[in-house]
Amino acid sequence: MKDKVIIITGAGSGIGQATAILAGSQGAKVIVSDVNQEGGEATVNEIIKNGGTASFIYCDVANKEDIKAIFAQTLSLHKKLDCLVNNAGIHGEVNLTHEYSDEMYEKVVAINQTGVFYCMKEGLRILHEQGNGGSIVNVSSLAGISGARNLSAYTASKHAVVGLTKAAAQEYGRFNIRINVICPAIIETPMADDLTMGDPASVEIIKQLIPMQRFGQPKEVAKSIVWLCSDDSSYINGQELRVDGGMKA
Ligand SMILES: NC(=O)c1ccc[n+]([C@@H]2O[C@H](COP(=O)([O-])OP(=O)(O)OC[C@H]3O[C@@H](n4cnc5c(N)ncnc54)[C@H](O)[C@@H]3O)[C@@H](O)[C@H]2O)c1
Repeated sequence: MKDKVIIITGAGSGIGQATAILAGSQGAKVIVSDVNQEGGEATVNEIIKNGGTASFIYCDVANKEDIKAIFAQTLSLHKKLDCLVNNAGIHGEVNLTHEYSDEMYEKVVAINQTGVFYCMKEGLRILHEQGNGGSIVNVSSLAGISGARNLSAYTASKHAVVGLTKAAAQEYGRFNIRINVICPAIIETPMADDLTMGDPASVEIIKQLIPMQRFGQPKEVAKSIVWLCSDDSSYINGQELRVDGGMKA
């Protein structure tokens, strides 16, 4: 990852934060982006403390102007882009589909799906113009390959991320631009805590459904994401990689 310029959305917490810190520790120049300024700055401080290079740029992925600005600022700072990790996401409501609010449906799709599309569009335009290849990693979910009860908007948006990934992989492989998608099961982050609501009984029941009988750690997902960004995965394109402890085996 040495000297690769990487933008990571939603890098102020959880999986995005772990990915930023790992990429920074391997010599990448990390653009840490989030709507959570405090979390984003904490990520940057950690990377710099470890001797790495990182900057925080605010970006709400539901806002097209913010997205354009983050790519422009990255180019003015580092003169190039190598990798993009579309990680920002929200789970939305936990509700039956007929009771799911229209407002939340639109919000989840705007962040999890349309945000990924606009970030890919900007990132691909730059990587294509540069002509040096590149790597994009999208963060979907097991809910991107099968249904998640009471999470209809989340499930729909995460399926869309898998579709966007595969279409782009077909289009840009010839330019040595690889696009892959990570599908994690439950990873111990604030999002997962919120979904399981700290209920020890339901946490134990869910763990029994996972062959490895435990939830994943953000660092374990980060390692897969950074590998997909790096040249070590130079012939991996269009993959949906489950990081799920075997849950869907
Ligand atoms: N934790 C899990 O169990 C799990 C499982 C599968 C997939 N995922 C996916 O992994 C990704 C990261 O989730 P996490 O578990 O680390 O959650 P998290 O809540 O810890 O981190 C998500 C980050 O995204 C940011 N964010 C939210 N809305 C945003 C917006 N509009 N623009 C920019 N940033 C925004 C948040 O501020 C936060 O810092 C998400 O896409 C999530 O759907 C998580």
